[in-house]
Amino acid sequence: MITALRGMKDILPPQNQKFVYFLENASAIARRYGFEFIETPILEETALFKRSVGESSDIVGKEMYQFIDKGGHDVCLRPEGTAGVVRAFIEKKYDRQGGIHRFFYHGPMFRYERPQKGRLRQFHQFGVESFGVSSHFEDANIILMLKEILDFFGINYTLKLNSLGCSTCMPPYRERLVTFLDTIEDALCEDCRRRKSTNPIRVFDCKNEKCQQLLEPAPRLRQNLCEVCDTHFNALLSLLDQQGISYEIDPNLVRGLDYYNKTAFEFVSGDLGAQNAVAGGGRYDKLVSFLDGKETPAIGFAIGIERLMEMIEVPRQEREGYYFGALCEEALTPLFLAASKEREHDKVTMGYDVKSLRAHLKAADKAGARYCAVIGENELAAKKIWVKDLEAKTEEMREL
Ligand code: HAM
Repeated sequence: MITALRGMKDILPPQNQKFVYFLENASAIARRYGFEFIETPILEETALFKRSVGESSDIVGKEMYQFIDKGGHDVCLRPEGTAGVVRAFIEKKYDRQGGIHRFFYHGPMFRYERPQKGRLRQFHQFGVESFGVSSHFEDANIILMLKEILDFFGINYTLKLNSLGCSTCMPPYRERLVTFLDTIEDALCEDCRRRKSTNPIRVFDCKNEKCQQLLEPAPRLRQNLCEVCDTHFNALLSLLDQQGISYEIDPNLVRGLDYYNKTAFEFVSGDLGAQNAVAGGGRYDKLVSFLDGKETPAIGFAIGIERLMEMIEVPRQEREGYYFGALCEEALTPLFLAASKEREHDKVTMGYDVKSLRAHLKAADKAGARYCAVIGENELAAKKIWVKDLEAKTEEMREL
């Protein structure tokens, strides 16, 4: 028997209801904040992710579904959504137009990770990307919107925030950090020793407790931010305070993708297991120019839909629409025609087998229909259809 690949899951009933419920409501909230839907290809040139997510990240270094296609092109299943949206943004010349452009998207992402609870190889994200605003107001707006989405679904979370600085403050800080790391290098884990030369700030992301202890006295970026980044971060915190949004500043929050600068954030939930990040994002003001577009400030986030689905309940579905059933063979065709007509106004399903009234009522109930409509010999003779309201428990004869 052929089964789904390891780390890849079908979204079947009843999970499918949660999936649709989430997408409909999250999309409605995104639209209310001025974001419009876009779709980009799942397959992109590998170079796009190498240049944006970064060669030193685990995502690009270890987890890409990368292959050479039949035309000899080096391609890759997208591990995340931001890079493709930025590529489309530049290709469509939105960067040349200027102004503000806000998009949302959802779809499958692929990372060849070791599968475990909350960690899949094919998972789905709902993401947003906002281009053209450098002000901290947009950072707050984006965080507010993400909070609103999570609140809508009743998620328990903690918002973690950090600033990752910019090209002015990051390089001198990095040097300071490397000088410190030199003093503890021998005691660090192998991964951290590698990180020291590829992307030193990622040492803060290490899950090894010994490394975390060794890093305690390390210089932190927050105390080494340039004036512009410090002002931006403090202005954001002040706005969040005024909105009554609680947060934790987490100096270890460095994010697993290389394109971030200034604001970085994650929403984590104690209701998830070890993989507790339900959503993450941040500012990436240099990515558009780094991918050869015109410099454009940008910020966004993505929610992990499977992780969120672990924590949401779909409200009880109301009965809706009709179930049509035939009590005799001759009724099937007139019933089919009546069902098609009714479908112009309402949801309709039809049973193609001739059955007893009792069996049809049971089938209508199982289908979640509000009404069960049947035609038998008597109804045929009278050119009528018998309709039972399964909610109000009333019945009537209608003209066919
Ligand atoms: P990310 O933090 O890599 O950010 O992923 C966002 C969310 O996707 C995570 O918080 C998590 O819920 C979910 N996720 C990640 N990996 C897996 C996995 N293997 N299995 C299940 N869920 C997973 C990004 O992808 C950025 N593109 C977000 C962003 C948009 N930043 C700016 N704009």
